[in-house]
Amino acid sequence: MTKVVTIDGPAASGKSTVSRELARRMGWNWVSTGAFYRGLAFVAKEKGIDFLNEEAIADLANSKEWKVVLTHERTEVEYGGHFVTDEIAQDSVGQLASLISKYKKVRERLLQNQRDCKIGVSGLVAEGRDCGTVVFPNADVKIYLTANQEQRAERRAKELGVSVESMINSQEVRDKQDSQRKIAPLQIPENAIVIDTTDMSLDYVVKLIEAKV
Ligand code: DC
Repeated sequence: MTKVVTIDGPAASGKSTVSRELARRMGWNWVSTGAFYRGLAFVAKEKGIDFLNEEAIADLANSKEWKVVLTHERTEVEYGGHFVTDEIAQDSVGQLASLISKYKKVRERLLQNQRDCKIGVSGLVAEGRDCGTVVFPNADVKIYLTANQEQRAERRAKELGVSVESMINSQEVRDKQDSQRKIAPLQIPENAIVIDTTDMSLDYVVKLIEAKV
């Protein structure tokens, strides 16, 4: 049976870096479920779809026009014949992803594709907001990562080359939206191990989780 480790947490809490490195050390697959929401938001924007039109966005979720492709290093999004993974990393796409992630039909349609990531692999590390609560409620180990807001903003600002202040504002909006929505909100899953990564090295965090696994 495929082993599953879920890593949930707020924006820029280190989920992607930690889960990618954990998967690498375990020889497992890795998926960033946020890429599904970011990919959908990006394609909707490219196509000029009204973000308030839940039906239209949900239809696009099932469309063959775009897809998520897993590699060991990245969760890629393919659209229009090429990867748009760098484009979806932008903060503006993260905001749009958060906006559409509150739609019930959108979540329902992306869910199966996320669950399918565990087919045919020996182990999977899945990261996002509802991986331990909704996507893989029977995961073997559930982790909730957090870090103080300034450090989270500093990490992401450095990655994206933007100001720390703008990141603090943007993350505040997104975390509030993600944790207050009605369906599959960001929350600490039952039985999850909570790790505050503030001032912890990547190696230390990964070793902590590896020991639990
Ligand atoms: O992890 P991320 O920054 O790539 O996620 C972008 C947005 O996608 C996030 O703000 C909310 C949404 N999301 C979600 O609703 N559920 C998930 N499991 C992952 C992401």
